[in-house]
Amino acid sequence: MATSAPLAHAASSDDPITLSASQLRTMRDDMQRFLLEYRFGMQEIETKIAILRDEFLLTHDYNPIEHVTSRLKSTDSLLDKVQRKGVEPDFASIRRHITDIAGVRLTCSFTTDVYRLFDLLTEQDDVRVLEVKDYIAEPKANGYKSLHAILEVPVFLSTGRIAVPVEVQFRTIAMDFWASLEHKIYYKFDTRVPPELLASLKDAADTAAELDERMLRLHRAIRGPAPRGNGRVVEL
Ligand code: GTP
Ligand code: MG
Repeated sequence: MATSAPLAHAASSDDPITLSASQLRTMRDDMQRFLLEYRFGMQEIETKIAILRDEFLLTHDYNPIEHVTSRLKSTDSLLDKVQRKGVEPDFASIRRHITDIAGVRLTCSFTTDVYRLFDLLTEQDDVRVLEVKDYIAEPKANGYKSLHAILEVPVFLSTGRIAVPVEVQFRTIAMDFWASLEHKIYYKFDTRVPPELLASLKDAADTAAELDERMLRLHRAIRGPAPRGNGRVVEL
């Protein structure tokens, strides 16, 4: 695929140029191929997480991961973002500027597991950390908490190796519960959420954070630190 192939016709609705069926087919194929690379990157991250989960369970008799979800941006939402961010509508620019085409969300029971999984993934020598935003250490004003990382992983194609960025969001169950409700409210009110609801959401975020702390204390009281596996003390 020509990496600088323009997407201008697809991205602007007021373009008077008419395209032949074969040009349209080529654009569709280029787009599918482009998105496929991100799907592969996402699968690499999913596999890494599945390996960590299975190995952790086997070695420590403990599963630090509650659930994992993944999504690939749709063509529509990608083109929306290209326009919104003023990114040049060609594959090379999109590749450079839009790093959340592939997204994986990893939900853990406890904050300690969130950071543990982040460390275990980012320490791998084929993973390159492009960006980290720690909204757990510094929550957003609305109360949003999560650890975000853009991780670049290698994908091996018939044409050679490519590096694919994947946005990974790490959070606890309580943070996930809050974020999904906040997201629904935000959409329901078409971003104009009444102030009293915003205050109530912020309050709920604080309650969720308190719950996280209490659950972690209980969990530690039950399991405590224990020497396991290769002799390293792993705090569970
Ligand atoms: P965009 O990628 O354009 O959204 O901007 P950004 O790169 O500054 O985003 P950031 O890393 O802060 O957040 C990216 C993603 O995190 C979003 O697409 C959401 O999935 C999630 N997110 C960020 N902030 C919020 C929030 O306040 N509420 C909820 N529910 N999700 C959020
Ligand atoms: Mg982003």
